[in-house]
Amino acid sequence: MEVVIVPTPDDAARVVAGVMVRVLVTMPSPVLGLATGSSPVGAYNVLIDEHRAGRVSFAHASAVLLDEYVGLPADHHETYRTFIRRALTDEVDLPADRLFGPDVWADDLIAACLRYEHLLAELGGVDLQLLGIGTDGHIGFNEPSSSLGSRTRIKTLTEATRQDNARFFPSLDAVPRHVVTQGLATILDARHLILVAAGHGKAAPIARAVEGPLTSMCPASALQLHPHVTVVVDDAAAADLQLGDYYRSVFAAKPDWQPL
Ligand code: GLP
Repeated sequence: MEVVIVPTPDDAARVVAGVMVRVLVTMPSPVLGLATGSSPVGAYNVLIDEHRAGRVSFAHASAVLLDEYVGLPADHHETYRTFIRRALTDEVDLPADRLFGPDVWADDLIAACLRYEHLLAELGGVDLQLLGIGTDGHIGFNEPSSSLGSRTRIKTLTEATRQDNARFFPSLDAVPRHVVTQGLATILDARHLILVAAGHGKAAPIARAVEGPLTSMCPASALQLHPHVTVVVDDAAAADLQLGDYYRSVFAAKPDWQPL
């Protein structure tokens, strides 16, 4: 796991966007895995600026979502599809029919989960998956105790996650209880994973994910199993890392020929 510690959230956003731009400009038809939550928004803003400056195009890309709430109307402001359109894809030249997410509006949700797995396979897998992390260590919506081998499925949110996400809804009661999320094994199928986190509230889950034991109690610790993971954190989110000085020295001495 490569841990990149930078001073501010804006610096983290630039590092993450830089990796995404490289994928977009070097691959003929990249598949990007997009994440919701506030953590990736800075990187999305950099990407929108790069697109407007004519330096990057999404015209030949596909984008896939990690997860989606169950029970919201399709046109609800806080569905993850609507969120990602607002935060990124409507602002760039990604073709509208190249944004994919789990079909949580299907009558048969279990079949819809399986279809999403098939779709990811048909796309040839995800080239670069962006991730945030929940305060309880979740990635996507894989809450603590999620099977390390899990695939796309229905999950029930913990009260802690519902409370974290209540800021986007008029009340706690309005936050859905159920979601469909890519499983941990689904996420680990992506060829490169990049996790971004900022602020003191993420220091504990980042330390557990990067340096804690591999355990379903911290789903993000499953990233330790993957051969190509980049964790990009600001100083505040890096505060609990035991080897913070080591990660800083590794990054400072990174050879030019070895991109993130
Ligand atoms: C939600 C999303 C996660 C995201 C998490 C953290 O639960 N399903 O993908 O990582 O929020 O959100 P934030 O970045 O706003 O802290």
